Amino acid sequence: MAKSDMTKILVTGACGQIGSELTLALRRRYGNENVIAVGHRTKPSEALCTTGPFEYIDVTRRETIEEVVRKYKIDTIYHLAAILSAVGEKKPQLAWEVNMNGLYNVLEVAREYEMVRVFCPSSIAAFGPETPRDNTPQETVLRPTTMYGVTKVAGELLCNYYFIRFGLDVRGVRYPGIISSETLPGGGTTDYAVEIFYEAIKHKRYTCFVREDTVLPMMYMPDCIKAAIDLMEADLSRLKHHADFNLSAMSFSAGELAAEIRKHIPEFVCEYKPDFRQAIADSWPRSIDDSAARQEWGWEPEYDLAAMTADMLEKLGRRYAEGRL
Ligand code: SER
Repeated sequence: MAKSDMTKILVTGACGQIGSELTLALRRRYGNENVIAVGHRTKPSEALCTTGPFEYIDVTRRETIEEVVRKYKIDTIYHLAAILSAVGEKKPQLAWEVNMNGLYNVLEVAREYEMVRVFCPSSIAAFGPETPRDNTPQETVLRPTTMYGVTKVAGELLCNYYFIRFGLDVRGVRYPGIISSETLPGGGTTDYAVEIFYEAIKHKRYTCFVREDTVLPMMYMPDCIKAAIDLMEADLSRLKHHADFNLSAMSFSAGELAAEIRKHIPEFVCEYKPDFRQAIADSWPRSIDDSAARQEWGWEPEYDLAAMTADMLEKLGRRYAEGRL
Protein backbone atom coordinates (compact mmCIF):
# COMPACT_ATOMS: atom_id res chain seq x y z
CA MET A 1 0.00 0.00 0.00
CA ALA A 2 1.62 3.25 -1.08
CA LYS A 3 1.47 6.27 1.16
CA SER A 4 0.36 8.37 -1.82
CA ASP A 5 -3.13 6.86 -1.78
CA MET A 6 -3.86 8.87 1.35
CA THR A 7 -3.88 12.40 -0.01
CA LYS A 8 -6.12 14.48 2.29
CA ILE A 9 -6.05 13.53 5.91
CA LEU A 10 -8.37 14.60 8.73
CA VAL A 11 -7.25 14.25 12.34
CA THR A 12 -9.99 14.42 14.98
CA GLY A 13 -8.95 15.08 18.57
CA ALA A 14 -6.04 17.04 17.14
CA CYS A 15 -5.61 19.12 20.31
CA GLY A 16 -5.32 16.03 22.49
CA GLN A 17 -2.29 14.20 23.82
CA ILE A 18 -1.74 12.01 20.75
CA GLY A 19 -3.43 14.22 18.15
CA SER A 20 -1.28 17.28 18.81
CA GLU A 21 1.94 15.41 17.99
CA LEU A 22 0.54 13.00 15.39
CA THR A 23 -0.85 15.91 13.34
CA LEU A 24 2.59 17.53 13.13
CA ALA A 25 4.22 14.20 12.22
CA LEU A 26 1.63 13.59 9.49
CA ARG A 27 2.15 17.12 8.14
CA ARG A 28 5.89 16.54 7.91
CA ARG A 29 5.26 13.28 6.06
CA TYR A 30 2.34 14.12 3.76
CA GLY A 31 2.60 17.90 3.42
CA ASN A 32 1.27 20.65 5.70
CA GLU A 33 -1.78 21.54 3.61
CA ASN A 34 -2.82 17.89 3.29
CA VAL A 35 -3.42 17.29 7.00
CA ILE A 36 -6.46 19.02 8.45
CA ALA A 37 -6.52 19.21 12.23
CA VAL A 38 -9.91 19.37 13.92
CA GLY A 39 -10.66 19.99 17.55
CA HIS A 40 -13.80 20.40 19.61
CA ARG A 41 -13.38 23.22 22.12
CA THR A 42 -9.74 23.21 23.18
CA LYS A 43 -7.71 26.11 21.85
CA PRO A 44 -5.16 24.64 19.43
CA SER A 45 -1.45 25.14 20.04
CA GLU A 46 0.39 27.68 17.96
CA ALA A 47 2.27 24.88 16.19
CA LEU A 48 -1.00 23.25 15.14
CA CYS A 49 -2.39 26.50 13.68
CA THR A 50 0.71 27.80 11.98
CA THR A 51 1.65 24.59 10.17
CA GLY A 52 -1.65 23.83 8.44
CA PRO A 53 -5.45 24.03 8.41
CA PHE A 54 -7.42 23.88 11.67
CA GLU A 55 -11.21 23.62 12.06
CA TYR A 56 -13.67 22.99 14.86
CA ILE A 57 -16.10 20.06 14.73
CA ASP A 58 -18.22 18.06 17.14
CA VAL A 59 -17.94 14.35 16.32
CA THR A 60 -21.34 13.72 17.91
CA ARG A 61 -22.85 16.00 15.23
CA ARG A 62 -22.32 14.25 11.95
CA GLU A 63 -23.01 17.30 9.79
CA THR A 64 -20.02 19.09 11.32
CA ILE A 65 -17.73 16.23 10.21
CA GLU A 66 -19.25 16.19 6.72
CA GLU A 67 -18.76 19.90 6.29
CA VAL A 68 -14.99 19.60 6.78
CA VAL A 69 -14.79 16.40 4.73
CA ARG A 70 -16.46 18.15 1.79
CA LYS A 71 -14.49 21.38 2.17
CA TYR A 72 -11.11 19.63 2.03
CA LYS A 73 -12.05 16.50 -0.01
CA ILE A 74 -10.85 14.25 2.82
CA ASP A 75 -9.99 10.63 1.94
CA THR A 76 -8.37 9.47 5.19
CA ILE A 77 -9.35 9.97 8.84
CA TYR A 78 -7.30 9.50 11.99
CA HIS A 79 -10.09 9.47 14.55
CA LEU A 80 -8.58 10.31 17.93
CA ALA A 81 -11.40 12.24 19.59
CA ALA A 82 -12.42 10.31 22.70
CA ILE A 83 -13.18 10.53 26.40
CA LEU A 84 -10.51 8.63 28.40
CA SER A 85 -11.00 6.11 31.19
CA ALA A 86 -11.00 8.24 34.36
CA VAL A 87 -13.26 10.97 32.95
CA GLY A 88 -15.37 8.19 31.46
CA GLU A 89 -16.04 6.80 34.94
CA LYS A 90 -17.11 10.25 36.14
CA LYS A 91 -19.23 10.86 33.05
CA PRO A 92 -20.19 7.48 31.55
CA GLN A 93 -23.04 8.90 29.46
CA LEU A 94 -20.73 11.44 27.84
CA ALA A 95 -18.12 8.72 27.21
CA TRP A 96 -20.72 6.63 25.38
CA GLU A 97 -21.95 9.61 23.40
CA VAL A 98 -18.50 10.76 22.24
CA ASN A 99 -16.76 7.39 21.91
CA MET A 100 -19.59 5.40 20.33
CA ASN A 101 -21.73 7.90 18.47
CA GLY A 102 -18.65 9.88 17.49
CA LEU A 103 -17.04 6.78 16.01
CA TYR A 104 -20.28 5.71 14.33
CA ASN A 105 -20.57 9.15 12.69
CA VAL A 106 -16.94 9.03 11.51
CA LEU A 107 -17.39 5.53 10.06
CA GLU A 108 -20.65 6.46 8.35
CA VAL A 109 -19.11 9.57 6.78
CA ALA A 110 -16.06 7.51 5.72
CA ARG A 111 -18.34 4.88 4.15
CA GLU A 112 -20.50 7.40 2.35
CA TYR A 113 -17.58 9.40 0.98
CA GLU A 114 -15.77 6.17 0.01
CA MET A 115 -12.65 6.97 1.96
CA VAL A 116 -9.37 5.19 1.44
CA ARG A 117 -8.66 4.45 5.11
CA VAL A 118 -9.60 5.20 8.72
CA PHE A 119 -7.46 4.87 11.86
CA CYS A 120 -9.18 4.46 15.20
CA PRO A 121 -7.20 3.58 18.32
CA SER A 122 -8.39 1.04 20.83
CA SER A 123 -6.71 0.56 24.19
CA ILE A 124 -5.52 -1.87 26.85
CA ALA A 125 -8.78 -0.75 28.48
CA ALA A 126 -10.54 -3.21 26.15
CA PHE A 127 -9.34 -5.92 28.53
CA GLY A 128 -10.81 -6.61 31.95
CA PRO A 129 -10.28 -8.41 35.25
CA GLU A 130 -10.88 -11.85 33.69
CA THR A 131 -8.25 -11.31 30.97
CA PRO A 132 -4.85 -12.98 31.56
CA ARG A 133 -2.77 -10.07 32.88
CA ASP A 134 0.72 -11.12 31.82
CA ASN A 135 1.70 -11.27 28.18
CA THR A 136 -1.98 -10.78 27.33
CA PRO A 137 -2.71 -12.65 24.09
CA GLN A 138 -4.09 -11.06 20.93
CA GLU A 139 -7.20 -13.24 21.08
CA THR A 140 -8.53 -13.24 24.65
CA VAL A 141 -11.35 -12.29 27.03
CA LEU A 142 -12.71 -8.77 26.35
CA ARG A 143 -14.93 -7.99 29.32
CA PRO A 144 -13.90 -4.53 30.55
CA THR A 145 -15.42 -2.98 33.67
CA THR A 146 -15.11 0.68 32.65
CA MET A 147 -17.37 2.60 30.28
CA TYR A 148 -14.25 3.63 28.36
CA GLY A 149 -13.34 -0.05 27.94
CA VAL A 150 -16.88 -0.95 26.89
CA THR A 151 -16.74 1.70 24.15
CA LYS A 152 -13.31 0.47 23.05
CA VAL A 153 -14.45 -3.16 22.66
CA ALA A 154 -17.65 -2.08 20.90
CA GLY A 155 -15.56 0.29 18.78
CA GLU A 156 -13.18 -2.48 17.69
CA LEU A 157 -16.13 -4.66 16.74
CA LEU A 158 -17.81 -1.82 14.87
CA CYS A 159 -14.62 -1.00 12.94
CA ASN A 160 -14.13 -4.66 12.00
CA TYR A 161 -17.79 -4.81 10.98
CA TYR A 162 -17.33 -1.86 8.61
CA PHE A 163 -14.39 -3.64 7.02
CA ILE A 164 -16.26 -6.92 6.53
CA ARG A 165 -19.64 -5.48 5.60
CA PHE A 166 -18.70 -2.36 3.63
CA GLY A 167 -15.06 -2.95 2.69
CA LEU A 168 -14.03 0.21 4.55
CA ASP A 169 -10.34 -0.11 5.38
CA VAL A 170 -10.40 0.67 9.12
CA ARG A 171 -7.29 0.00 11.17
CA GLY A 172 -6.44 0.34 14.83
CA VAL A 173 -4.19 -0.67 17.69
CA ARG A 174 -4.76 -1.26 21.38
CA TYR A 175 -2.53 1.47 22.75
CA PRO A 176 -0.99 1.07 26.19
CA GLY A 177 -0.56 4.16 28.40
CA ILE A 178 1.08 6.89 26.32
CA ILE A 179 3.86 9.03 27.76
CA SER A 180 4.57 12.35 26.07
CA SER A 181 6.24 15.70 26.64
CA GLU A 182 4.16 18.09 24.50
CA THR A 183 0.49 17.84 25.51
CA LEU A 184 -0.78 16.46 28.82
CA PRO A 185 -3.18 13.53 28.64
CA GLY A 186 -6.77 14.42 29.44
CA GLY A 187 -8.27 12.25 32.12
CA GLY A 188 -6.84 8.76 31.72
CA THR A 189 -5.74 6.19 34.29
CA THR A 190 -2.16 6.13 33.03
CA ASP A 191 -1.78 9.94 33.40
CA TYR A 192 0.47 9.46 36.46
CA ALA A 193 3.25 8.22 34.17
CA VAL A 194 3.27 11.67 32.51
CA GLU A 195 2.48 13.90 35.51
CA ILE A 196 5.34 12.37 37.48
CA PHE A 197 7.87 13.88 35.05
CA TYR A 198 6.43 17.40 35.25
CA GLU A 199 6.31 17.27 39.05
CA ALA A 200 9.78 15.74 39.33
CA ILE A 201 11.20 18.64 37.34
CA LYS A 202 9.12 21.40 38.91
CA HIS A 203 8.86 20.31 42.58
CA LYS A 204 11.06 17.19 42.98
CA ARG A 205 7.98 15.56 44.52
CA TYR A 206 4.96 13.67 43.22
CA THR A 207 1.95 12.07 44.83
CA CYS A 208 1.01 9.15 42.63
CA PHE A 209 -2.63 8.05 42.42
CA VAL A 210 -1.86 4.34 42.01
CA ARG A 211 0.12 2.02 44.30
CA GLU A 212 3.88 1.71 43.99
CA ASP A 213 3.60 -1.90 42.75
CA THR A 214 1.08 -1.10 39.99
CA VAL A 215 2.47 -2.41 36.70
CA LEU A 216 0.96 -1.26 33.40
CA PRO A 217 2.06 -1.43 29.76
CA MET A 218 3.32 1.94 28.50
CA MET A 219 4.69 3.51 25.33
CA TYR A 220 6.60 6.67 24.48
CA MET A 221 5.05 9.10 22.00
CA PRO A 222 7.54 8.56 19.13
CA ASP A 223 6.60 4.86 19.14
CA CYS A 224 2.90 5.73 19.41
CA ILE A 225 3.16 7.88 16.28
CA LYS A 226 5.28 5.32 14.45
CA ALA A 227 2.67 2.63 15.16
CA ALA A 228 -0.18 4.70 13.72
CA ILE A 229 1.73 5.66 10.57
CA ASP A 230 3.26 2.20 9.99
CA LEU A 231 -0.06 0.43 10.38
CA MET A 232 -1.81 2.90 8.07
CA GLU A 233 0.88 2.41 5.42
CA ALA A 234 0.98 -1.38 5.77
CA ASP A 235 0.00 -3.60 2.88
CA LEU A 236 -3.65 -4.56 3.39
CA SER A 237 -3.08 -8.04 1.97
CA ARG A 238 -0.73 -8.81 4.89
CA LEU A 239 -3.27 -7.89 7.57
CA LYS A 240 -5.27 -10.64 9.24
CA HIS A 241 -6.40 -8.29 11.99
CA HIS A 242 -7.69 -4.78 11.41
CA ALA A 243 -8.85 -2.58 14.25
CA ASP A 244 -7.64 -4.50 17.29
CA PHE A 245 -3.88 -5.06 17.20
CA ASN A 246 -2.21 -5.65 20.56
CA LEU A 247 0.73 -3.28 20.91
CA SER A 248 3.54 -3.28 23.40
CA ALA A 249 6.70 -1.31 24.14
CA MET A 250 7.52 -1.44 27.88
CA SER A 251 5.97 -2.37 31.21
CA PHE A 252 6.97 -1.01 34.61
CA SER A 253 5.56 -0.35 38.07
CA ALA A 254 5.01 3.19 39.34
CA GLY A 255 7.85 2.53 41.78
CA GLU A 256 10.22 1.46 39.00
CA LEU A 257 9.39 4.65 37.09
CA ALA A 258 10.14 6.77 40.16
CA ALA A 259 13.44 4.89 40.65
CA GLU A 260 14.40 5.52 37.02
CA ILE A 261 13.69 9.25 37.44
CA ARG A 262 15.82 9.26 40.63
CA LYS A 263 18.81 8.15 38.53
CA HIS A 264 18.62 11.65 36.97
CA ILE A 265 17.10 13.61 39.90
CA PRO A 266 18.43 11.91 43.07
CA GLU A 267 16.39 14.11 45.46
CA PHE A 268 13.07 13.20 43.79
CA VAL A 269 10.49 11.86 46.27
CA CYS A 270 7.40 9.92 45.20
CA GLU A 271 4.46 9.18 47.52
CA TYR A 272 1.54 6.92 46.76
CA LYS A 273 -2.09 7.76 47.50
CA PRO A 274 -4.29 5.46 45.41
CA ASP A 275 -7.71 6.83 44.41
CA PHE A 276 -10.58 5.45 42.28
CA ARG A 277 -8.19 4.99 39.38
CA GLN A 278 -6.42 2.15 41.21
CA ALA A 279 -9.35 -0.18 40.54
CA ILE A 280 -9.23 0.71 36.84
CA ALA A 281 -5.48 0.04 36.70
CA ASP A 282 -5.97 -3.27 38.51
CA SER A 283 -8.43 -4.39 35.84
CA TRP A 284 -5.89 -3.92 33.01
CA PRO A 285 -3.01 -6.14 31.85
CA ARG A 286 0.56 -5.82 33.12
CA SER A 287 2.17 -6.77 29.81
CA ILE A 288 1.04 -7.44 26.26
CA ASP A 289 1.84 -10.01 23.57
CA ASP A 290 2.06 -8.00 20.34
CA SER A 291 3.35 -10.73 18.04
CA ALA A 292 0.46 -10.29 15.57
CA ALA A 293 1.43 -6.63 15.01
CA ARG A 294 5.08 -7.66 14.62
CA GLN A 295 4.23 -10.35 12.08
CA GLU A 296 1.55 -8.58 10.06
CA TRP A 297 3.05 -5.11 9.69
CA GLY A 298 6.53 -5.25 11.15
CA TRP A 299 5.84 -3.44 14.44
CA GLU A 300 8.90 -2.83 16.57
CA PRO A 301 9.16 -0.23 19.35
CA GLU A 302 12.30 1.84 19.90
CA TYR A 303 11.99 3.20 23.43
CA ASP A 304 12.36 1.31 26.69
CA LEU A 305 12.02 2.74 30.21
CA ALA A 306 15.58 4.09 30.39
CA ALA A 307 15.56 5.72 26.95
CA MET A 308 12.09 7.21 27.43
CA THR A 309 12.92 8.62 30.88
CA ALA A 310 16.15 10.23 29.69
CA ASP A 311 14.40 11.83 26.72
CA MET A 312 11.40 13.07 28.76
CA LEU A 313 13.62 14.68 31.39
CA GLU A 314 15.82 16.25 28.75
CA LYS A 315 12.86 17.76 26.85
CA LEU A 316 10.89 18.93 29.88
CA GLY A 317 14.05 20.10 31.64
CA ARG A 318 14.89 22.34 28.71
CA ARG A 319 11.37 23.82 28.66
CA TYR A 320 11.53 24.41 32.41
CA ALA A 321 14.86 26.20 32.11
CA GLU A 322 13.31 28.45 29.44
CA GLY A 323 10.34 29.18 31.72
CA ARG A 324 7.90 27.34 29.43
CA LEU A 325 6.69 24.52 31.67
N1 SER B 1 -4.24 5.94 28.70
C1 SER B 1 -5.60 5.57 28.58
C2 SER B 1 -6.36 5.84 29.83
O1 SER B 1 -5.77 5.81 30.86
C3 SER B 1 -5.71 4.12 28.23
O2 SER B 1 -6.20 3.99 26.96
O3 SER B 1 -7.51 6.06 29.79
